[in-house]
Amino acid sequence: MRGSAAISAALALVSVGGGAVAVGCGGPDEATPDAGELAPDAAVIEPDAAAPTWPFPLPPGFPVPRLPEGRALTAELAELGRYLFYDVRLSANGTQACGSCHLQARAFTDGRVTSVGSEGAVLRRNAMSLANVAYNPTQTWANHLLVDLESQAHVPMFGENPIELGITGHEDEILARLRGDSTYDALFAAAFPDAAPTEELDFGHVILAISAFERRLISGDSPVDRYRAGDEDAISEAAKRGEAMFFSETFECHHCHGSFNFTIAVDHAGLAAPQPAFFNTGLYNVGGTGAYPAIDQGLYELTQDPNDMGRFRPPTLRNVAVTGPYMHDGSVATLDEVIRIYERGGRLIEDGPNAGDGRLNPEKSPFVPGFTLTDEERADLLAFLEALTDTTFLTDPSLSDPFAPAVAP
Ligand code: HEC
Ligand code: HEC
Repeated sequence: MRGSAAISAALALVSVGGGAVAVGCGGPDEATPDAGELAPDAAVIEPDAAAPTWPFPLPPGFPVPRLPEGRALTAELAELGRYLFYDVRLSANGTQACGSCHLQARAFTDGRVTSVGSEGAVLRRNAMSLANVAYNPTQTWANHLLVDLESQAHVPMFGENPIELGITGHEDEILARLRGDSTYDALFAAAFPDAAPTEELDFGHVILAISAFERRLISGDSPVDRYRAGDEDAISEAAKRGEAMFFSETFECHHCHGSFNFTIAVDHAGLAAPQPAFFNTGLYNVGGTGAYPAIDQGLYELTQDPNDMGRFRPPTLRNVAVTGPYMHDGSVATLDEVIRIYERGGRLIEDGPNAGDGRLNPEKSPFVPGFTLTDEERADLLAFLEALTDTTFLTDPSLSDPFAPAVAP
């Protein structure tokens, strides 16, 4: 199976709660890509004759995403994927779909501190936005081995600890629900014209189709984009001041949240290599030891490299006003609170099991030094972040749930 090492590493890691963290890789002599603080040198975009064409419109200034070798991407495949993404029959007990934890109106997050699986298991992490996942060099908050969407999809589908969709052990039953369904007959025939009718539909097809749909989730029509394209009135004066702050050397945000996707962790056609990036932002410093809480220590769990303690991938900030609560564990409720943590140069937790001063975390990135803001400056930065909301993306009918009852216009 393609990417099976990454998948088993991912599956090993979804196991949480018991304290002991399973590690699927990263022994001393196992070569791991440089996944640390420093992202490889900035993008060199080389004209690439073999660059794939992209069947969907891309916003101005967006590069063409890189499609894994040999992977097809057609409108028909993505449309089949849209149905599967939202179909609760894909979970063993028929209660949950990908779209249950990735809601379009919330930029494909779920609004919870951490997600809850189909059988009630509380996950340890906050559901991520799926906006522009086609550009991710690595998938999920902190896994340098999980590099493509197809491999990632195995985790919620087949993972058993915790159970999300809970397909393992129910494969035949679930495929039987989809095969021979008249909606899927037509969608499947269009997506896989060379395959036999739906009796052939298997999880390989399901994963290819869902991943194709995810590659359609492109967001690049926020007020900030329209402002950059020349519409002076698209954002407020406050947001313009906030933008200047965001890209300044005093506030440093752009070092990790730069690029067209507001994260430096990107990949696309024409880049010499994908650019993974993971940082410790000083959210924790349990007992002053530098540790993050045992339930989730970020990249360190996979690499066992002490320098990777508390390192997570900088998420895209597109649509961030609708993706709260924030951070890998949903432990920050509002954007105002996020800004105050950066202002302080790390989070102070005064009591409880996670008490400690994140500002003093020895693994914290030097790009999180702390700074002082006036109330007006704080409001400006917030106004900029709020101007990253792309309402076209949040309401685009072609990305919406086909099973939802029709609403009157
Ligand atoms: C129970 C809730 C839940 C379900 C169901 C679920 N997800 Fe997620 N999703 C999450 C959480 C939580 C994360 C963060 C996981 C991590 O970092 O380990 C995530 C992360 C992701 C990411 C990584 C995004 C990024 O920017 O790196 C992708 C892609 C994704 N999910 C796709 C899917 C697909 C496809 C399905 C259905 C097959 C699905 N999810 C089902 C909760 C869910
Ligand atoms: C050193 C790299 C780095 C710098 C500098 C940085 N960030 Fe972040 N940012 C991250 C990482 C990594 C995360 C996720 C951390 C986690 O979950 O533990 C994050 C998370 C966030 C989030 C939460 C997003 C979400 O979806 O949960 C916001 C908002 C944010 N940063 C805004 C900013 C702003 C504003 C600045 C400048 C003041 C800034 N960041 C500077 C790396 C950085």
